[in-house]
Amino acid sequence: MTQTLPPPATSAVDQAHRLSLDPLAMPERLLLGPGPSNAHPDVLAAMARPPVGHLDHTFLRLMGEVQELLRYAWQTDNRLTIPVSATGSAAWETCIANTVERGDTFLVAINGYFGHRMADMASRYGANVVIIKKPMGQAFSLEELEAALVEHQPRLLGLIHAETSAGVLQPMEGVGEACRRHGTLLLLDTVTSLGGVPLFLDRWGVDMSYSCSQKCLSCPPGLGPVTIGPRAEERLKSRTGKVPNWYLDITLLSQYWGSDRVYHHTAPVNMNYGLREALRLLAEEGLDAAWQRHRRNAELLWEGLQSLGLKLAVDERLRLPTLTTVYIPEGVDGKAFARSLLDEEGVEIGCGLGDFAGKVWRIGLMGQNSAAENVERLIDLLRQRLPGAA
Ligand SMILES: Cc1ncc(COP(=O)(O)O)c(C=O)c1O
Repeated sequence: MTQTLPPPATSAVDQAHRLSLDPLAMPERLLLGPGPSNAHPDVLAAMARPPVGHLDHTFLRLMGEVQELLRYAWQTDNRLTIPVSATGSAAWETCIANTVERGDTFLVAINGYFGHRMADMASRYGANVVIIKKPMGQAFSLEELEAALVEHQPRLLGLIHAETSAGVLQPMEGVGEACRRHGTLLLLDTVTSLGGVPLFLDRWGVDMSYSCSQKCLSCPPGLGPVTIGPRAEERLKSRTGKVPNWYLDITLLSQYWGSDRVYHHTAPVNMNYGLREALRLLAEEGLDAAWQRHRRNAELLWEGLQSLGLKLAVDERLRLPTLTTVYIPEGVDGKAFARSLLDEEGVEIGCGLGDFAGKVWRIGLMGQNSAAENVERLIDLLRQRLPGAA
């Protein structure tokens, strides 16, 4: 039997509408916002390969390589290191779903938008959420964190390593040791730091972390790497009840990602091709070189912005190399300016979130986008387009 298709759109408006939805006609952008960043051409080429079966022995080998390369990127030996088939938020929820039980005290250090998300997620799993707070643009000192550990004796501490809403890098010196002294598990958000700033999970004593594919790894959004260390595994074993989320149950997931290879869900094969290539490119450059490149280009950006008379929102000591927050000059409509930069120049920058909404632009230099020519292009555009720029 033949199927009757709807009649083709005929009006010019319908035609234009259809064309605008054609992914092959999507515009090319330079993505200098909070993420995603541009995907590396080799990553896109890898993703364009025809998929094999998700239990094909060649794919199983590739999965193992993704895991090994993730361990390298995070500097960890954690057995439970896998890319969750969803974005960073699902990897985040994997950590919480597996290690939190009703009534556990969960200390969340909030200095921006994503800290609030941590508190919200933990509360949905029944945690007794305790919050310590700092204004956006600031970070927590070791003394402040330790004082809160002493006062609340939490089962978990949740920290954002790179607060994308504020452009702040949380110093990690001594935090893992303090958590061990108090029997607290340390959960660290590395969504905007993995591959872009120095990160030593095992040396720092981080028990669990999660990230994303779409920022400093130069891969499209779609996978959420997660890693769970031995102390968190112990916690998992001592749970009194089932993990309340089937899809994110790391024990079930690890039967697919571990040697058993038991079907759990159909892994997004092509996303994993892309992530494997992205991680290979990072390993080829070397972590040190990648971290130094991000730092060098961020410094170039900071100098350029200041040379235009713009004011950076975060003190240099805590400034995040992968994401810079800069105050929108008085009299400029930040949103309209960002929109015109996008429409007329094809360059994306981000607007503020949370307490920084309407006050700052967020400029990302992540992954392959962290390049001197991108900084120069943006500074030139700002010089041309901002009224009164020096
Ligand atoms: C610090 C931080 N954590 C978590 C997330 C959530 O990641 P995703 O959007 O991949 O779910 C983001 C996203 O930008 C982020 O910047």
